[in-house]
Amino acid sequence: MKQQLQEIQKQALASLSEIRDVRELEALKVEYLGKKGKLTQILKGMGALSAEERPVIGQMANDVRIALEEGIADVRARLEREILNNKLKTEVIDVTIPGRTKPLGKKHPLTSVLDEIKDIFIGMGYEIAEGPEVELDYNNFEALNIPKNHPARDTQDTFYISENVVLRTHTSPVQIRHMQSHNPPIRIICPGRVYRSDTVDATHSPVFHQVEGLVVDKGVTMGDLVGTLQAFAKGIFGENTRIRLRPHHFPFTEPSAEVDVSCWGCGGSGCRICKGEGWVEILGAGMVHPNVLRECGIDPDVYSGFAFGLGIERITMGKYGIDDMRLLFENDMRFLKQF
Ligand code: DAH
Repeated sequence: MKQQLQEIQKQALASLSEIRDVRELEALKVEYLGKKGKLTQILKGMGALSAEERPVIGQMANDVRIALEEGIADVRARLEREILNNKLKTEVIDVTIPGRTKPLGKKHPLTSVLDEIKDIFIGMGYEIAEGPEVELDYNNFEALNIPKNHPARDTQDTFYISENVVLRTHTSPVQIRHMQSHNPPIRIICPGRVYRSDTVDATHSPVFHQVEGLVVDKGVTMGDLVGTLQAFAKGIFGENTRIRLRPHHFPFTEPSAEVDVSCWGCGGSGCRICKGEGWVEILGAGMVHPNVLRECGIDPDVYSGFAFGLGIERITMGKYGIDDMRLLFENDMRFLKQF
């Protein structure tokens, strides 16, 4: 038995010196120290020894086990060192390589112009109100005093979801929603997307953006409207900008006007931008029709108000000299990078 033990120790230590990886090491451990391992087998046979031999052989077997365990631990440490060294050699990080630059995004020109518009009106004490793009016929037309036979209600102009539901054709329905849920004084702008059944060309898109304005209070006059729009025009197109109002008709305002600004291209003397007119139309406006106030539960004998609606695309195209609306929606990076 002594000899067997010595033999086992010799074999094991010899094999240990040839171990190349952790898997081989684990296999060797099992081979000698496992449940059915060579050393374990010997220990199981000890029951057959005499009382004198047992402690001697026991001591020896124990020494062999310790020697094997130590040998295995040494080899394990060596293997781990090798793995680490290998990693350090192969996984080199070159900290001097320049980083990859991520291109910075920019605001879309429509967003920049909308932000400017918001700033101007927030500066004058307005709040922002919003409404849904899928809207009731009632809010989009009926409550705005737009009669049943009005051409704007035609399916040629309006996308109908059902008989009573449309994609809003303007931001004016937000006026109705706001007046029905708030008491005067009211001072809001309502930016948003609107839809019309138009064919795409240089000046039309079935989806575009508007900003609605609404002020309702006691004693609001047309003079307040003019002063407000004058301040707005100067804020957007520059200090020297003038405005003019031309009589017009909108069902939801009375009186109504179309509003022009002096041309930003020539200052009023006539150029290509204004087609020689000196003026460019930018919005519609007027005094809120008494029928509209009444429909929203506001007494037109006590309160009055003005409203206006402008197209963000048109103003953006004017400001930046963009001559084709499609450029604003195609998201061509070469175009967008310029702003
Ligand atoms: N809703 C009109 C349109 O889409 C624009 C408009 C005109 C809005 C006059 C108004 C207004 O609030 O008073 O063409």
